[in-house]
Amino acid sequence: MKFFIDSVDIEAIKKFTLSGMVDGVTTNPSIIAKSGRDFKEVIREICSIVPGPVSAEVTATKASQMIEEGEVLSKLAKNVTVKVPLTWDGLEACKRLADQNIMVNVTLCFSAEQALLAAKAGATFISPFIGRLDDLGEDGMDLIKDIRAIYDNYSNLKTEILAASIRTPDHVRRAAIVGADVSTLPPTVLEELAIHPLTDKGLKAFLDDWKKTGQNII
Ligand code: E4P
Repeated sequence: MKFFIDSVDIEAIKKFTLSGMVDGVTTNPSIIAKSGRDFKEVIREICSIVPGPVSAEVTATKASQMIEEGEVLSKLAKNVTVKVPLTWDGLEACKRLADQNIMVNVTLCFSAEQALLAAKAGATFISPFIGRLDDLGEDGMDLIKDIRAIYDNYSNLKTEILAASIRTPDHVRRAAIVGADVSTLPPTVLEELAIHPLTDKGLKAFLDDWKKTGQNII
């Protein structure tokens, strides 16, 4: 499974890159607004650190303007993935951008039917939002399962399933079990993935015993 960082936190992106965990980055207008950073500047900066796909979202709502914005964003760096919402205008923009060999991430997906449309429009990634479905009392992971089953039925559908709106390590585990291609993670969730109390306890015991030997490796 590929991991994308769902953030523009440069320090976190650099830190997790060192351990080989960052296959890409996703952003959205809310993440950009919260960061206070200049959109194009931060996308360029992330693309200079991460060679994998970096999603930058259009903010127009009409297909023709989404395409114009997508073309501008795609010129920021060769690994920019243009993010468009799952509307009919977004699907048209997806098709037209994909026809220009621009990577497209279709976002705000809440149904398997929508995911089928995105794949037919040539999306590189479909982003089903797990956490926001959970918030409504549904099991967001059912959506990932349904999309996986549909895409696996048709070998011509090449779109990767990018599990989004991930809130917990359990989401990551379950998304991997049901075959999502990518999980996009807030840095806090990625941090938590390596943490286990038995690891901490076991390490403490090993180090205490090692001290007793009086030896050094170097
Ligand atoms: C990713 O591409 C999405 O923008 C993100 O995962 C949304 O997460 P949220 O539902 O926690 O805002």
